[in-house]
Amino acid sequence: MRWDERQRAMLAEMGVRVWAAPEDAAAPGTTEPLADVPPAPAKRVAPPLAQSPVPAPSPRRVEPLSPVATLDWPALRETVAACTACKLCEGRRQAVFGVGNERAHWMIVGEAPGEQEDRQGEPFVGKSGQLLDNMLRAIALTRGEAEPARQVYIANTIKCRPPGNRNPEPDELSKCEPFLIRQVQLVQPKIIVAMGRFAVHSLLRSTEPIGRLRGRVHAYQGVPLIVTYHPAYLLRNPEDKAKAWDDLCLALETAAALPG
Ligand code: URA
Repeated sequence: MRWDERQRAMLAEMGVRVWAAPEDAAAPGTTEPLADVPPAPAKRVAPPLAQSPVPAPSPRRVEPLSPVATLDWPALRETVAACTACKLCEGRRQAVFGVGNERAHWMIVGEAPGEQEDRQGEPFVGKSGQLLDNMLRAIALTRGEAEPARQVYIANTIKCRPPGNRNPEPDELSKCEPFLIRQVQLVQPKIIVAMGRFAVHSLLRSTEPIGRLRGRVHAYQGVPLIVTYHPAYLLRNPEDKAKAWDDLCLALETAAALPG
């Protein structure tokens, strides 16, 4: 398969270098000398949710008695900002709530704020955030102002920075989970992209490696969910950017196949 100009531009946004077949190559000296990435896979049709090889976990709801379950956006924001449910509140500068269109069709779920996010109060503002923005741009999405079909909503599984960027602990994940569940309920996204081990494992209640979970459509609270690598992982392992690109293509196909 040949890459058309648009696909090449998209891949360049992600920093994915494209393999150029000899007959595909431009004049000598004008083509980057090959090969991080094989040609794109033949167009796939996303499996319908019902036929997903992984049984979708049963939808989870915030406990009916949880006060979080009925909060509107301003109240939820305030509750997260004032949360002291786990020890992460002790070391944070601020809780990092989320950013983007509150009616976004696409929701991106990451892991936890790092130092820069803790400083600025916005998810994914460091180096991995730049790559995330490029990945979004590659599929015509943005965190900046746009209509709900184009402007994503970005949230983390954990709202406060774990000290020294250590991994979130199970009790921290479970204490924070009602906030993400409520964000999903309020946004009502058409599709969720979960990035990285902690987001994926926490949302899907799975311990399987990402490599075994990606490539098919899961569900979270009844919303189709696509698994992909965390941008920070991709910065360390650029050879896997091609797989992340496949995941984004699967997300696009899945979103395009949804009714409405
Ligand atoms: N990594 C994440 O998962 N989220 C952030 O907000 C920043 C880095």
